[in-house]
Amino acid sequence: MEKILITGASGQLGIVLTKALQKKYGVENVIASDISKSSNHEGVFEILNVTNYEAVDNCISRHKITQVYHLVAILSAKGEANPLNTWGINMNTLFNVFEASRLNGVKKVFYPSSIAVFGEDIEYINTPQSPNLTPLTVYGMSKAAGENWANYYYKKYGLDIRSVRYPGVIGYQSLPGGGTTDYAVSIFHSAVKNEDFNCFLESSTTLPMIFMDDAIRATLELMDAPKENIKVRTSYNLAGMSFNPKQIYDSIKKINPNFKISYTPDFRQEIANSWPKSIDDSQARKDWGWQPKYNLDTMSKEMMENLKEYYNLVSV
Ligand code: SER
Repeated sequence: MEKILITGASGQLGIVLTKALQKKYGVENVIASDISKSSNHEGVFEILNVTNYEAVDNCISRHKITQVYHLVAILSAKGEANPLNTWGINMNTLFNVFEASRLNGVKKVFYPSSIAVFGEDIEYINTPQSPNLTPLTVYGMSKAAGENWANYYYKKYGLDIRSVRYPGVIGYQSLPGGGTTDYAVSIFHSAVKNEDFNCFLESSTTLPMIFMDDAIRATLELMDAPKENIKVRTSYNLAGMSFNPKQIYDSIKKINPNFKISYTPDFRQEIANSWPKSIDDSQARKDWGWQPKYNLDTMSKEMMENLKEYYNLVSV
């Protein structure tokens, strides 16, 4: 029987992944944890400060955890406000989870990486699996280092850590915090509320993105794949779709023709410029059968319908 621990369960991915894991393994077998509880959580929740090794070790051993999904991190934009603090939190939490998992005999660990690992000197279109990683942000540097630590723990200790480089994740169930791709979620909230949207990136800034359903399914499929299929022990490139702010605006306008957008690029523009425009995820497709289901228009439809319901707006 599996016992699951999720760290960072109150975050954008954590809220949705917790529900998916509860459905798969049973509510009582999933321990959601974070430094504060989100009102969305049902089931077992623990306040857990992952920077505290003893607390992590205690939680894993007390619950006899068999799988950990380690989602705690400070993201790309927010992380730049205090670089050393971001590095400390992102790396210390990783060491605490990897080390406590190893010592307590955890069977599998999921570690999310990001398109933020890429930086200057890459091919921006169809960025390959293994280019030089020269990230511009502390978040990106911590993820690039974390991927190598994942590989190290696998090679040295046999800890079965699996990882994907998520593109910007877009979902209606939760809000992102502190990322460079966050505009692609907030734009939908403005659109359903009939508010004008001011975008912090230029209209032509193409970035790789993925719909939440696809991101969650990728995570579960990777974790379910037979061990011998997992050839990449740093982190897999993962693609959903690619678009720029103008294209997502046009897609939303097909549903809400009155929607208006303006552009005021800020410091996040430079971060976005250093990231891929599209991702070559052929290795993930080959090794564990990855296949995204959503494109820009099917995602926009789902986002608008679900957010309308959330805000209690009846669609016309
Ligand atoms: N969505 C993240 C960010 O923008 C990328 O992993 O920071």
